[in-house]
Amino acid sequence: MCGIVAYLGDRNAFEVIIKGLKRLEYRGYDSSGIALSADNQLKLYKKTGKVSELESFTNSEDLNGGTGIGHTRWATHGEPTDNNAHPHLSFDGTLGIIHNGIIENYASLKQELLNKGYEFKSDTDSEVVIHFIEDIRKNNNCKLDEAVRLALSKVIGAYAIVIIDRNDPSRLIAARKGSPLVIGVGKGEYFLASDATPIIEYTNEVVYLNDFEIAIVCREGLTLKNMEDVESSPYIQKIDMELDAIEKGGFKHFMLKEIFEQPKSIGDAMRGRLNAAEGQLALGGIRDYLNRLISADRIIVLACGTSWHAGLVAEYFFEEWCRIPVEVEYASEFRYRNPIIKEGDVIIAISQSGETADTLAAIELAKSKGAIIFGVVNAVGSSIPRATHVGAYIHAGPEIGVASTKAFTSQVTVLSMIAMIVSYKKGTISETSYHELLVELETIPEKVQIALGLDQRSQSIARSFMNATNFLYLGRGYNFPVALEGALKLKEISYIHAEGYPAAEMKHGPIALIDEEMPVVVIATNDSSYEKIISNIQEVKARKGKVIAIVTEGDEVIPRLADYVLEVPKTHEALMPLVSVIPLQLLSYYIADLRGCNVDQPRNLAKSVTVE
Ligand code: F6R
Repeated sequence: MCGIVAYLGDRNAFEVIIKGLKRLEYRGYDSSGIALSADNQLKLYKKTGKVSELESFTNSEDLNGGTGIGHTRWATHGEPTDNNAHPHLSFDGTLGIIHNGIIENYASLKQELLNKGYEFKSDTDSEVVIHFIEDIRKNNNCKLDEAVRLALSKVIGAYAIVIIDRNDPSRLIAARKGSPLVIGVGKGEYFLASDATPIIEYTNEVVYLNDFEIAIVCREGLTLKNMEDVESSPYIQKIDMELDAIEKGGFKHFMLKEIFEQPKSIGDAMRGRLNAAEGQLALGGIRDYLNRLISADRIIVLACGTSWHAGLVAEYFFEEWCRIPVEVEYASEFRYRNPIIKEGDVIIAISQSGETADTLAAIELAKSKGAIIFGVVNAVGSSIPRATHVGAYIHAGPEIGVASTKAFTSQVTVLSMIAMIVSYKKGTISETSYHELLVELETIPEKVQIALGLDQRSQSIARSFMNATNFLYLGRGYNFPVALEGALKLKEISYIHAEGYPAAEMKHGPIALIDEEMPVVVIATNDSSYEKIISNIQEVKARKGKVIAIVTEGDEVIPRLADYVLEVPKTHEALMPLVSVIPLQLLSYYIADLRGCNVDQPRNLAKSVTVE
């Protein structure tokens, strides 16, 4: 939700920032803007639309200057207009701000400022903050960092902000609470951004700002202080991210690239952890609290969206292999209930971005009730791993397409490994079954590679259904969460209404929707509910629905019933979601692309949902 980039140094700030904003566009893309400090003025450029529109708009401008701030927006307060785009200037024009987050008490602060005669150019909560800082600086006659500290002590909400001062281009002030902010440390130069992707081509040394920290970024050095005005030294970390990982590498879209990366990303999730030949499986990150998981009376999974679907697959793993009851909760619902958490409960929080506000808030609530939290996260150094007690990164690498693909398969891979370890140590799984699972899991990257061979076939099926207005996705057992995931993928990128259902539930309602216009995707791989799913296909066909079936290779029955068939390699029933989801990702990608949709940046969505 909104991406921020700022630069201070000898390079051309505009170039660094515009490039950075393009990398962060997955976080928001309804408008963007840049403020540059040059010749004792703040030059401000803002434009509705994508970052490329800002770039064309500024084509003929003189864009010199080595200090600047930039923003790509996902609207929360106020429509996507030029005026509401960031940066926002203080009333006297001396200060500029970029902000990611939501200021909850902006209305009362705004009223106070209106009473004092301040005027506002936008409807945003962010503009209120910069006017407020200006007001405090004037009233207290203090330095900018002090004014920021005093102002933020009165601000309620979430923020990552960077402030530029027209009269002091040698300094930027940044602060964070609840929204991410990374500072790249170069030689005499600094890069500030919502994540490390705009930074890594310049430096791999970064400081992750913590909540309630203020950074004073000057050419001579970086100083941190907390809200009590106590200074601390920045902890500089080296990050391990390659530039290739954040570029399209010849694919038309990031989503397609990420779908095709899955043999590698699933392999990376297992690397150094699983060695089936030696019978070894270990996840160092969870070792400290493993006994809590082994003796858990109940596991509560907290997640949103696709990560929630991965959690549903994990429910089957933990219940079947470990015999531990599992509840999979939408973090957004859990946090607003008064959930019952008992001593023997363990929480597993799943998130790709590691920044989802609802998941973070649910974690904090569970922690306040004494729960132990395990994290399963992709983005290294993000907020969720810092809020959890222990965790395992999924190592999928940056996922830039807004629709999650490779993160899902890597989450399921890591969750399966955790459940395998727990069941083995608990003795709820036989030695033979455990070893069979290890061997089978190791073959998954290769099977996913084979499933990716369905690319052309998926594209041709997509052509037949690109104009459909509704889709139904059905699956049973392990493939039920896959049905939900397939439907989510389709609706978010192609804007076609789609619903996922447990196949047996169809007769309790959705069957009424079926007619000759209705495509029904049935995940019908050869598993313990194979016979039952054949009956479900027959029920759809009896009502003239069009069946697209995902089947196991060699199936001779379903191809005679279904209208279209996509064959995936055989694997263990429990691991099938890792393979059966592939054709669904491809199908939704091609339908969206054929419809001319913006696959990587679907309307109204953002990759990192840092608002409630
Ligand atoms: C779906 C999608 C979203 C996210 C959800 C949770 O393709 O991307 O549904 O899965 O917003 O995000 P994370 O996993 O970052 O917590």
